[in-house]
Amino acid sequence: MTEKNSNSKGFIGGILSLPNDSPKKTIIIAFLLCLVCSVLVSTAAVVLKSKQVANKELDIKKNILAISGLSAENGDIETAFEKFEVKVVDLETGQYADIDPSSYDQQKASSDPAQSIKLTAEQDIAKIGRRAKLATIYLLKENDTIKQVILPIHGYGLWSTLYGFIAFEGDFNTIQGLQFYAHAETPGLGGEVDNPKWRKQWHGKKAFDQDGHLKIKVIRGHVDFKMADAEHKVDGLSGATLTSRGVSNLVNYWLGDHGFGPYLTNMRSAMEK
Ligand SMILES: Cc1cc2nc3c(=O)[nH]c(=O)nc-3n(C[C@H](O)[C@H](O)[C@H](O)COP(=O)(O)O)c2cc1C
Repeated sequence: MTEKNSNSKGFIGGILSLPNDSPKKTIIIAFLLCLVCSVLVSTAAVVLKSKQVANKELDIKKNILAISGLSAENGDIETAFEKFEVKVVDLETGQYADIDPSSYDQQKASSDPAQSIKLTAEQDIAKIGRRAKLATIYLLKENDTIKQVILPIHGYGLWSTLYGFIAFEGDFNTIQGLQFYAHAETPGLGGEVDNPKWRKQWHGKKAFDQDGHLKIKVIRGHVDFKMADAEHKVDGLSGATLTSRGVSNLVNYWLGDHGFGPYLTNMRSAMEK
């Protein structure tokens, strides 16, 4: 082929006209393919980012509705979610923080050293490393009376961090439900945290005893209902002792003095007045 011919075909034409076993052709075609694919993937990631964020938020709202026993009429999650009052709590004081909940991202704050605190090994029973100073909570009210409060919780199981919610009735002690919306535990073993039968057990359990001590625990095996403290205990998942222990620890962390403990104590004291 003359140089004139090759120029007239252009760069791509020139490459394509090389024999298929040419190393130059193989390398250039592989490089161009990678370039095109990476541009496509990056464009898709940028274009779909806002949709992904919106879908994640919608999924969280769907989970909050599910845990509180509310359903979205005609699948309208946004309208159903308007029943909730969203607040931000300062975990150290247990008081509401003067901040717009829509401008606060607790998950992002958890990894920001300015907005979070590093936990000591002794404190970190949920194995989360750091926790945000502020937490977003959801109140379900009826004529100014709090009927339910939904608190975000997370912590390590066996393979993954489990993210979910625990919901309390208006006494800030009786558990309405517990639900995880993200984890990577093994389906059929630790993944049974999603089993409705297992989750149902949490309904009606008391997190604290009459003196305000945190008692809730996931035990190994089955709860003996003849025992006086059965109201504070939940069956462990069979074949998944490590995930069960992780769930017990993370619930205890988030309801304890370092989590929502001060907030729950404040709310219970306010009710007694
Ligand atoms: C492939 C595989 C996946 C497992 N996934 C889990 C899991 O998600 N959660 C868990 O607690 N145990 C899981 N286990 C079992 C643990 O290694 C461990 O044996 C178990 O937690 C002990 O629980 P048990 O005393 O109730 O049998 C898995 C084991 C294997 C082999």
